[in-house]
Amino acid sequence: MKAIAKAPGKAILTGEHFVVYDQPALVMAIDRFISVTVAKRPDTSIRISSTLGYTGTFEGEKFHSEQGGGAAQRILTPVHISASAVLDAVNYRCGLNINVDSEIPVEVGLGSSGALAVATVSAVGRLFDIAFSEPEVVNLSLEAERYVHNNPSGVDQTVSTYGGVIQYRKNQSAIRLEVESPLSLVIGNTGVRRETGRLVDSVRARRTRIPDVMDRVIRSAGVLTTKAVDALKSGNVSLLGELMDVNHGLLVAAGVSSIELDRLVHAARSGGALGAKLTGAGGGGCVLALVPDERQDTVSRAIQDADGVPIKVNKMEGGVHSWINE
Ligand code: PMV
Repeated sequence: MKAIAKAPGKAILTGEHFVVYDQPALVMAIDRFISVTVAKRPDTSIRISSTLGYTGTFEGEKFHSEQGGGAAQRILTPVHISASAVLDAVNYRCGLNINVDSEIPVEVGLGSSGALAVATVSAVGRLFDIAFSEPEVVNLSLEAERYVHNNPSGVDQTVSTYGGVIQYRKNQSAIRLEVESPLSLVIGNTGVRRETGRLVDSVRARRTRIPDVMDRVIRSAGVLTTKAVDALKSGNVSLLGELMDVNHGLLVAAGVSSIELDRLVHAARSGGALGAKLTGAGGGGCVLALVPDERQDTVSRAIQDADGVPIKVNKMEGGVHSWINE
């Protein structure tokens, strides 16, 4: 018997980084997924294999890499943490074979680690015939995110669990927004991988050096997200685009943009985007452009001409779901 769970990735429309400091963020689940398949095995080892080219086995504290060299342990540890969190929660010890199939590029800000944790928690839960509630899935999947950085806001895990468009604030219930317009978005991937934890730390360090300046930037970002939520609710997409432009400016002020990101943001805007910003932790990774429907191709070409990889994404209404395959 196998249990399978499929969870969507995400794109942050406004508020990344500032959400760590209790400001609201606006985030959307996207139609790119991670699937996790889990089966019991007769010993107590946890063997994890990912289509991204990493395989290894955890036996207690020990790790044996089979594929992907030294990076395998770092990449696979969050899966091990998520699976172990569920085994602890159900108070059961057994070995597991876990297969990960991902169509979300890793370490570029599209929520691959959040979706991976959420899918792992849901699949292992389903294997033991437990359908965790949504807050339980978020809570259990946060254990793995603490390995990535020690002060996660939970925004990625929340949107991957619930799906749709969410107004999120740390330690508060997520507010799901009913959005009528389809929201035409193009992502531009710089292809530069980076570590979320390092970027979160760099913002904290800047805030420690110049708290009176950075606290104003952080508060402005909170006001900006509130206005972005109103713009979305009233269907004012051009205002939402303008707010995304300003949000990029605040992220530049926080020190998390890069030459590659700025180049793609400007390319998207000159290609006719209503607004564009880096999305996720920054430092590399992706930009997100809000575009009028008829300009999707023009904006995609502009991103490509600026050395980015364009990815057209759509809103995903549903969050994680799981099932049994006999
Ligand atoms: O890992 P990313 O690139 O999706 O970034 C997560 C969003 C941050 O706000 C930078 C961190 C967090 O915990 O909210």
